Amino acid sequence: MTEAVLGIIGGSGLYDLPGFEESEWVSIKSPWGMPSDDVRIGELNHRKVVFLPRHGRGHVFAPSDINYRANIDVMKRAGVTDLVSISACGSLKEAYAPGSFVLVDQFIDRTFARQKSFFGRGCVAHVSLAHPVSPALVDMVEQAAKLEALDYVRGGTYLAMEGPQFSSLAESELYRTWGCDVIGMTNMPEAKLAREAEICYSTVAMVTDYDCWHPDHGSVDIQDIIAVLKRNTEKAQRLVSRLASILPKDHVACPIGSDRALDFAIMTASDK
Ligand code: ADE
Repeated sequence: MTEAVLGIIGGSGLYDLPGFEESEWVSIKSPWGMPSDDVRIGELNHRKVVFLPRHGRGHVFAPSDINYRANIDVMKRAGVTDLVSISACGSLKEAYAPGSFVLVDQFIDRTFARQKSFFGRGCVAHVSLAHPVSPALVDMVEQAAKLEALDYVRGGTYLAMEGPQFSSLAESELYRTWGCDVIGMTNMPEAKLAREAEICYSTVAMVTDYDCWHPDHGSVDIQDIIAVLKRNTEKAQRLVSRLASILPKDHVACPIGSDRALDFAIMTASDK
C-alpha cells in the first residue's frame, strides 16, 4: 500500500495554506532546475499535505517562466500521489460568473514557450492524455466542495494560453466557438507532466473574470481579478482542508491508470 499524499499547487492569490497542524517549508532539489519555491510539508486533518505556490511567494514567476518540470518533480520527490491545482481563470461561459469554481476535466493546450516533457532524447515516452484528470480524485474534490457548500460545476474545458497578456477579443470569441469553458495560463504543461510523473491530477479553476468577450463586462482588469481572488482564497483553503479530511490513508489506485501511466508508454528499448 502507498500512503496517500495530497499535493496542492496554489496559483495566483494562493501563496500559503494555513491550518496545518504542524509544518515546515522544505527546500527540495531537482535535476530539472529550480522549482518556483520551497514546499510547505505538514499534516492537515491527519493527512500529509505538500503545498507549492506556483508563482513563488511574492508572485515572482510569470506563467512562461515557471519551471513546470521542476515543480512536478519536487512534488513527486515529496511523495505526492494526488495533486490538486487551484488556479485563477477567466470564464468563457455566461453561467460561470466570477466567484464560481469549475472542476475542469479537459484541456486545450495553446502554450508554446515551455518545456512540456520529462522525456526526449535517450528515453522516449508517449503517455495517454485522453483523460487528463483523475476521476477518483475529482470525486473527492467534488465531495469536499459539496460539504463546504461552494458554488461549483463538475466538468469543463480549460484553454491554456501562453500569456502573459490576456486574449484579444477575436481569440476569446474563437475559444468560445471551440466550446471552452475557462481560460488560464498555467495548467498546461502542468497536467501533462503530472501524468508523466504518474501523479493523479485534478484542477479547481476559480473564476475571477469574464475574459474580454462579455458585452456587459469590460476587458480583463487585474485589480478586479485580485479582488475576486481575495474573496476566493478563503473558500479554496476550506476546500483543501475538507479534502484532506476525506482522502483515504492509502492512495486509491486511479481507475484510468494515471498513477501507472508509464507502464505501456516507454518507446526506447531498455537493452539499448
Ligand atoms: N487568469 C485569470 N483570468 C484570466 C483570463 N481572463 N485569461 C487568462 N488567464 C486568466
